[in-house]
Amino acid sequence: MKVRVLGTAAGGGLPQWNCGCPSCTKARAEGTARTQDCLAISGDGRAWYLVNASPDLRTQLLGAPELMPPEGSRDSPLRGVLLTSAELDHTLGLLSLREAAGRLAIYATQPVRAALHADFPVGPLLASYSTVDWRVVRPAETVPLEGALRATAVALSAKRPRYATGRSRPDWTVAYRFTDAAGAVLVYAPGLAAPTTAFADTIDGADVVLLDGTFATAAEMGPGSATRMGHLPIEESLPFLRAHPGPRYLYTHLNNTNPVGHPDDPRRALLAQANAGVATDGQVLEL
Ligand code: MLT
Ligand code: MN
Ligand code: ZN
Repeated sequence: MKVRVLGTAAGGGLPQWNCGCPSCTKARAEGTARTQDCLAISGDGRAWYLVNASPDLRTQLLGAPELMPPEGSRDSPLRGVLLTSAELDHTLGLLSLREAAGRLAIYATQPVRAALHADFPVGPLLASYSTVDWRVVRPAETVPLEGALRATAVALSAKRPRYATGRSRPDWTVAYRFTDAAGAVLVYAPGLAAPTTAFADTIDGADVVLLDGTFATAAEMGPGSATRMGHLPIEESLPFLRAHPGPRYLYTHLNNTNPVGHPDDPRRALLAQANAGVATDGQVLEL
């Protein structure tokens, strides 16, 4: 299994355009930026899938050699996109895929697909430019992908985007557990809301788990903010990681307010004790 982490920031990126908080100020001064949450994954190194389509997608794709078309062709190795939610930081980039020449498959749960055909009608918009094959993903069902990659969605939370009007359902936000022919396992969970036993089962036997690093602390954006936004803060997920040794853990989807995003943050030592680190833009993983 080959993976390229394309973006590691929460919605707005780092620095955020209108933010002068210490993290954003530092990122501006040092030229260290994070683009918004997005992953590229392949079971065979030839057929590639995106997990989420960030607003920074074009720049992210141009920086990933694996995703370039062979010289003289219009054959992109990109076969499809799996969505973990309908949030704008995960879906705005779909519009940047409108030049897709052939069939592009977009995998999403039922409420996410419905939101992307009504409240944010990216489905009908894309249909005017390209042929898109929308496929409904149901939690616990395994989706076979090209290159012997398999993906199983796991419901994480009923957190619904602010713009969406659909009813409350447990599969507004999901994680994916990916496996390949050789048995490598990667779990991608940028919207982990709670350290449940279901999530413990999901990460069982995983080689790498990329998980929610939106906030370092529960009240980073005001009292109760992390829970309200459906993001388990690092201070609450670390004990869970320590109790579930085995995988390599990498935090991703870091909000601009999260100081742990900076390599010099003293909390990095605590992460290391749990075999955890912080993912970086462009990071390559071979499992
Ligand atoms: C989230 O992850 O909570 C959302 O993407 C927030 C946002 O960007 O509006
Ligand atoms: Mn987000
Ligand atoms: Zn900021």
